[in-house]
Amino acid sequence: MRKILRNPAQIVTVDTKGKNFKRGKELNQINVIDNHSIIIEDGIIKDILPNSSLKINSSDFVIDVKDKIVLPGLVECHTHSAFAGSRANEFRMRLAGKNYEEIAKKGGGINTTVKAVREAGIEELINLLTQRAEYFICQGITSLEIKSGYGLDYENELKLLQAINYLKDIFSIDIVPTFLGAHTFPTEFKDDHEGYIDLLVNKLLPYISKHKLAKYCDAFCEKTAFSSPEVDKIFTKAKESGLELKLHSEQFNNIGGIDLALKHKITSVDHLEVLEDSKLNALGNSDIVCTLLPGVSFFLDYQYAPARKLIDNNAIVAVATDYNPGSSNIANLNFIMSLASLKMKMTIEETISAVTINAAMAIGLNETTGSIEINKQADFAIFDTKEYSDIVYNVGKNLNCITIKNGEIIFDSTEILNENY
Ligand code: NIG
Ligand code: FE
Repeated sequence: MRKILRNPAQIVTVDTKGKNFKRGKELNQINVIDNHSIIIEDGIIKDILPNSSLKINSSDFVIDVKDKIVLPGLVECHTHSAFAGSRANEFRMRLAGKNYEEIAKKGGGINTTVKAVREAGIEELINLLTQRAEYFICQGITSLEIKSGYGLDYENELKLLQAINYLKDIFSIDIVPTFLGAHTFPTEFKDDHEGYIDLLVNKLLPYISKHKLAKYCDAFCEKTAFSSPEVDKIFTKAKESGLELKLHSEQFNNIGGIDLALKHKITSVDHLEVLEDSKLNALGNSDIVCTLLPGVSFFLDYQYAPARKLIDNNAIVAVATDYNPGSSNIANLNFIMSLASLKMKMTIEETISAVTINAAMAIGLNETTGSIEINKQADFAIFDTKEYSDIVYNVGKNLNCITIKNGEIIFDSTEILNENY
């Protein structure tokens, strides 16, 4: 059956002319068209036609989006949604003056959540993940990355990856699982780094690769976590095992993460709050997506990543929530978009490119989603406003009213609204 997204106020295509990513100045070009409708066939974008030439057949399924705007389905490319428990206590400690790194050094931080995850059953984790995925979907998100990283032993890292993979049976959105066994050293391996790396490299990676439990291997290159030679070992093995690579780098310190990212030609390097100017050129000349996480700077109250410098140096910039219980307890991508513009000085258009096509590239889905181009998946976020600037201008307000994945409506609040008004 043909489906028609009829007569929206605007279609923001984020068109890339088949290139499937945007670097530097290109982020500012999002291509807005009016007086057109979108034709969907078999879950794929078939055509974008002027309303004047649109012929509707009686067998067509028409979704009337008059006075609404259509964007590509949003892509959330960096989350730690697979967690249990709460870190409200540490939040209180931070409000009283302690800092995030101090708390981590004393065995809190990531290891607090590790304890909660180890105590949680897989059903509990699946329930938590389900609620969190639903919350992302109602925001217009049609592709979602989720990391492990709070199990930090054989049994519990696999439990997390199994829970994340289970979501693929529940939801039609793209779920991308990432293995983050190298998140930090668990307390039992505090003084035996080699022992833990051995577990990652010789036990976990082979199992994960054999059972295809993760698409990416990620690591946290930081003074309180893994050194660059340690990450190097893990990345070398992950690559051999057929996983693609991502890295948390330059969040608090520069300890060689960028050189490693370039050496391994990884897919994305994430954080970059303390990136040095000397690295801008190399990143701008590379195909690595720089994923910026302004929610962390907001939640921990420190400097933002140099988005302007990266874009001005021709980098491929994406933006994500980094949703996690310790450094960005923020699952609202809309709020993050406003932070990207207000605090990192990205234009509204750059921010939109960063959460669509470039975020899709950060999780290897940019050939099939992230922009409204013919033959791509019919993935859309439909917003209840007539002007796309409103999305970023309305801070923290969810204007998304319909989410469509592969041509199917998976969230629709318009009926609810119709009932209420
Ligand atoms: O991306 N940087 C490391 N990992 C997370 C924080 C995780 C946590 O505090 O639980 C991040 O900020
Ligand atoms: Fe993160």
